[in-house]
Amino acid sequence: MSDSRQPIGVIGTGYVGLVTAAGFAELGSEVWCVDIDAEKIARLRRGEVPIYEPGLEELLARNSERMHFSTDIADALANARLLFVAVGTPPTYSGDADLSAVQAVADAIPASREHALIMKSTVPCGTGASLRRVFDEQDKGGLAYVSCPEFLKEGTAVKDFLHPDRVVIGDDGGWAGDAVVELYAPLGAPLVRTDIASAEMVKLASNAFLATKISFINEIANVCEPTGADVVEVARGMGLDDRIGSKFLQAGIGYGGSCFPKDVDALKQLAGNSGYHFQLLTAVIEVNELQKRRVIGKLHKHLGGLVGKRIALLGLAFKPNTDDMREASSLVLSARLHADGADVTAYDPVAEEQARKLVTGIAFADSALEALRDADAAVLVTEWQELLELDWGAVAEAMRGTLVIDGRNALDPQLLRESGLLYEGIGRR
Ligand code: UDX
Repeated sequence: MSDSRQPIGVIGTGYVGLVTAAGFAELGSEVWCVDIDAEKIARLRRGEVPIYEPGLEELLARNSERMHFSTDIADALANARLLFVAVGTPPTYSGDADLSAVQAVADAIPASREHALIMKSTVPCGTGASLRRVFDEQDKGGLAYVSCPEFLKEGTAVKDFLHPDRVVIGDDGGWAGDAVVELYAPLGAPLVRTDIASAEMVKLASNAFLATKISFINEIANVCEPTGADVVEVARGMGLDDRIGSKFLQAGIGYGGSCFPKDVDALKQLAGNSGYHFQLLTAVIEVNELQKRRVIGKLHKHLGGLVGKRIALLGLAFKPNTDDMREASSLVLSARLHADGADVTAYDPVAEEQARKLVTGIAFADSALEALRDADAAVLVTEWQELLELDWGAVAEAMRGTLVIDGRNALDPQLLRESGLLYEGIGRR
């Protein structure tokens, strides 16, 4: 099969770039990966994987003969017509996406009728159109452009690439769109082939909708608390309606990560830039910010003042199976606890190295039980499997107090209570 597969270039070797590269190599393409970070490229050449993503190391190793790494975009241009762009688009102070990395790639591509830019990075709706205008001004109108948003989730990115719910391809109906359709064909996923602006909007709207679902169930949880309802039961009852669906109805201490906070902000800002006030998203963002702080109120309720109180944070990453700390709820939580004078010790099975770069004023432990030693209270921040399977009898023995706040509603209240612990979830009876 590999002989008939188009070679591709992938520019940017972050989560999206590396998984896309390894995924297409698995499907038989020769892949030229480019990044401006020379150290990262050197590591990749040595077979090291710079991020923690289950299954990625194996996928890269299995396809290493088809994968090439370089800091020079010319290597990709010389070997492939289709150049996937997977560079960062972080938020700016105004909430707009920072497109300077995308722009730098566009500037680096010479005039060509042979090449196409395939946009994987999440960009505001209208980016494709403005890049086309820039290409025209630079006499590079022959370049083809395709929007092909990525929907992978960190922690299951490899599986998401190989078994996508859908593939969305936005283009003007030319050769490049056809070539991308062909690249994805072996995956057998439903295909949405549309115009560029609509493809860009599918990505932003999908992430904003999922974030809305989370903020909605978090508000239901907050209303459950004074009314005696249990949000886990409520979500189960709601989710069985297949118009609603059971996914993304897990109440907790808010969403984080590299996508939801950034993309929700970007969509709100995009609307604002054209004079439309996206009220719903304003609320989604505010609910999420407040939700990160709800644990503080619960700790105060049980412990009174927090000065000198020993608090164990179990998990720090924005979700399990990743070392990503971007916009993690633990960042706000640990900073608030520190500001309130608490004595915080945290444990995360994988994210400690990343956390140390961002979090100050807290101690790190090598195991959950070490973090829990003499703690007045514990907070489950990230539902790592290892933390869900703790020996709660041993936890009760290690702690000075009994309070365990389940920030992800992922623990069994009964089991904890039987071990003599005081369980409190988010919106749970
Ligand atoms: C998300 C989108 O799911 C993915 O399609 C897109 O390409 C990138 O953004 P990701 O950021 O990897 O993926 O994480 P996801 O699993 O979606 O979780 C995001 C956040 O929402 C996490 O902090 C998670 O803890 C939280 N979450 C998720 C909830 O609080 N409740 C839920 O029910 C689901």
